[in-house]
Amino acid sequence: MILLRVLRLFIFCLVLSTLCSITKCGSSDVTLKFLKAPHAFSHLNSATFAFEVLNSGSNRTCSNCSLSCKLDDGVASVCTNGRVTYSSLQDGNHGFEVCTNGNHSFVGCASYNWTVDTIPPTAYVTASTTFTSSSNVSVNISFTEPCIGEGFGCKSVNACNLLVYGAGQVVPSSFRVLKPNLMYSLLVSLSPTVQYGRAILVMDRSFCTDIAGNSFTRMANSSVHLHIDRRKVYVNIRTRVPEKLLRINSETRTIQATNDLNKLKVYLYFSSPIVNSSMEVMSSLNISRGSLVPTSAENLGNRRFGFMIANISSTAIVSVEFNLKSIITRQGTHVSPTAPVNFLYDSKRPAVMLSTHRMRTKDDNIQILIEFSKPVFGFNNSRVSISGGLLKSFHKLRWRTYILELQADDDLVFVSVPENVTRDVSGNKNLASNVLQVRHYSVPLISSVISAFTTATFALTSIVAGLLTISTASLQSSDITLARFGDRGLNLRMSNPLYLQNILEDKRFAKCRIVLLHTSYPFSKEASYLASLYSQVYLDFGLAIPKLSVHGMVSAVKDLLEQAPLNKVMFSTDAYAFPELFYLGAKNARKVVFTVLRDSCIDGDLTVSEAVEAAKDLFARNSINFYKIIS
Ligand SMILES: *[C@@H]1O[C@H](CO)[C@@H](O)[C@H](O)[C@H]1NC(C)=O
Ligand SMILES: *[C@@H]1O[C@H](CO)[C@@H](O)[C@H](O)[C@H]1NC(C)=O
Ligand SMILES: *[C@@H]1O[C@H](CO)[C@@H](O)[C@H](O)[C@H]1NC(C)=O
Ligand SMILES: *[C@@H]1O[C@H](CO)[C@@H](O)[C@H](O)[C@H]1NC(C)=O
Ligand SMILES: *[C@@H]1O[C@H](CO)[C@@H](O)[C@H](O)[C@H]1NC(C)=O
Ligand SMILES: *[C@@H]1O[C@H](CO)[C@@H](O)[C@H](O)[C@H]1NC(C)=O
Ligand SMILES: *[C@@H]1O[C@H](CO)[C@@H](O)[C@H](O)[C@H]1NC(C)=O
Ligand SMILES: *[C@@H]1O[C@H](CO)[C@@H](O)[C@H](O)[C@H]1NC(C)=O
Ligand SMILES: *[C@@H]1O[C@H](CO)[C@@H](O)[C@H](O)[C@H]1NC(C)=O
Ligand SMILES: *[C@@H]1O[C@H](CO)[C@@H](O)[C@H](O)[C@H]1NC(C)=O
Ligand SMILES: *[C@@H]1O[C@H](CO)[C@@H](O)[C@H](O)[C@H]1NC(C)=O
Ligand SMILES: *[C@@H]1O[C@H](CO)[C@@H](O)[C@H](O)[C@H]1NC(C)=O
Repeated sequence: MILLRVLRLFIFCLVLSTLCSITKCGSSDVTLKFLKAPHAFSHLNSATFAFEVLNSGSNRTCSNCSLSCKLDDGVASVCTNGRVTYSSLQDGNHGFEVCTNGNHSFVGCASYNWTVDTIPPTAYVTASTTFTSSSNVSVNISFTEPCIGEGFGCKSVNACNLLVYGAGQVVPSSFRVLKPNLMYSLLVSLSPTVQYGRAILVMDRSFCTDIAGNSFTRMANSSVHLHIDRRKVYVNIRTRVPEKLLRINSETRTIQATNDLNKLKVYLYFSSPIVNSSMEVMSSLNISRGSLVPTSAENLGNRRFGFMIANISSTAIVSVEFNLKSIITRQGTHVSPTAPVNFLYDSKRPAVMLSTHRMRTKDDNIQILIEFSKPVFGFNNSRVSISGGLLKSFHKLRWRTYILELQADDDLVFVSVPENVTRDVSGNKNLASNVLQVRHYSVPLISSVISAFTTATFALTSIVAGLLTISTASLQSSDITLARFGDRGLNLRMSNPLYLQNILEDKRFAKCRIVLLHTSYPFSKEASYLASLYSQVYLDFGLAIPKLSVHGMVSAVKDLLEQAPLNKVMFSTDAYAFPELFYLGAKNARKVVFTVLRDSCIDGDLTVSEAVEAAKDLFARNSINFYKIIS
């Protein structure tokens, strides 16, 4: 402060000494002399001038000289007593002029320029970031005008003009002068043990003044609040798709499924705000089906984001994965990884088909297969409409396949599943089934034999199928089944018979004989391999309806015979209902088997007599042995 006063005094003296020389006014007649004037830089908004006019010759006051005074560009006014005071001066530069016109032939003037500065100096504190997880933060201190006196300094933690309250302290060694008297920088280190807290940086009080003598004053932005947050940031992905608990084979699973398009919304909740925009968040989401559109809902302080799923097909398993690598939190950290969310959207109503082996039967027991297009829940025999027969048994094979056994008590039996009696996992109600009509009558013995073995294979297929359960992933498509030619809805990859291996290995089913039907197309080689490996696996090729070219049929049968023992492959016509189909099946099979065996003879794999035996096996003996048909 002492230094400051000395400095100001010096400036004042400098001004007055120049004044004296200026007021010579170019004449030896009179001399104007200021006795009092404001500081060249004044922190006052008023100014008082005192002056005298001297007769240069006598050094005596000119008492009868008239004087006029003028402030800035204002109008000159008469000023008496050699004294004038101005108040309410604006900040900035001002000029004062006094003139004498005492002797009509002479005009003399003197002027004085000064600056009014009533605004105290202040400094703005800015930090490189206000939310941080790091160990230090760089801080800039910018003064509004040069602050003199001792000026800004930071000699030690306890002698620093930047004060730090809370979980941090200045690092004096980092003090840098960026612009002398105007701009400085500093590091503030933050306590490494704090998980979550605050440090307040604020300028010291009255430690310097500007050149006009105004004392340093703190303003709102002379302080900064640093938020320290080193906690992990989590994100929660939620959807509005309802969760359902399913008990599948004594295992409880949660499945998210819906048929409601309005529920296809994904919400992300962050435990702490992030810097990224809604669009950036959206670009980090990977959705397996459809596309994302932001919802109009505001994002709640950059913590909550909502998206809708658009452009989705009527049935889809949707997986939402969040790539968090480029998401940055407000404190500059990454977000902890999160698991993807999966759910099923399905708006298709389940269709249901009733079938039986024979539309006309002499058997009192009628087996009816109820097959839904997808798994349904809450379906039981009370939901089936039956007339002309009595329910004997009802079995659930899989969530989409049921077997109903009836005791016919009329010539005509009608069975159907009415509309809306069951639902799929997404809540879609079923469509009405076909109305199955079975005519019950007496038939010759031979039919009953065929019926018996078709029932046997049917049951076998059902047992195998019944062992396989649904999984979330296969809910929508299909369960594993035996390879069935031409079933469009089937997930063909899953129908590879190699998937049966677990069952084939299972000791409990070691005595179950399993026939892979229809050449196992297109997995003939795999089927052949299974038949060679597992004693209980048999193969069957039915060629009634040539779905393949002759070449295709030949190569499928060749594949089938590639590794399988010849006594495990059986012919069937694959025919039903129409006699012509039986004929066609037999005709195609002869042609194809002939070609296959002929080629084997040419290649030297079989002799002619072995080929003849093979034909007998394929067409008759193997089936007779397998189905124990006594002729
Ligand atoms: C007028 O006064 C000044 C100092 O006050 C002096 O230097 C100067 O000699 C005087 N002049 C006369 C004529 O007395
Ligand atoms: C001014 O005063 C001086 C003496 O101080 C005198 O000689 C002179 O006549 C006066 N002039 C007028 C115009 O009054
Ligand atoms: C005014 O000026 C005249 C000449 O122009 C001079 O004779 C006279 O003395 C002056 N008066 C004063 C007071 O200086
Ligand atoms: C004051 O400023 C004016 C113009 O702004 C200038 O003409 C004048 O000479 C200045 N006077 C002094 C004493 O500096
Ligand atoms: C401090 O000032 C320097 C120079 O102007 C600038 O590069 C830096 O970004 C500033 N830092 C802060 C925290 O404002
Ligand atoms: C400041 O923090 C950075 C990283 O957060 C670190 O590399 C640097 O060494 C620290 N500086 C001081 C002076 O503590
Ligand atoms: C500080 O706050 C004042 C108003 O209070 C504002 O005019 C100025 O721009 C702010 N300065 C900085 C660096 O934010
Ligand atoms: C999120 O913000 C950070 C920082 O601005 C940026 O580097 C990153 O690329 C953003 N992420 C995405 C996905 O745009
Ligand atoms: C989205 O998933 C695909 C395939 O899984 C992958 O190639 C891609 O990199 C993923 N994109 C993002 C942003 O995670
Ligand atoms: C929906 O799909 C159509 C055509 O595939 C495309 O033109 C459109 O941009 C998609 N809409 C959205 C929101 O992705
Ligand atoms: C069939 O299911 C309905 C409800 O889904 C139930 O009320 C009824 O008791 C069940 N009937 C049998 C025989 O399980
Ligand atoms: C079955 O449900 C569908 C859709 O909920 C409805 O439109 C239809 O009228 C219902 N049918 C019957 C017979 O209740």
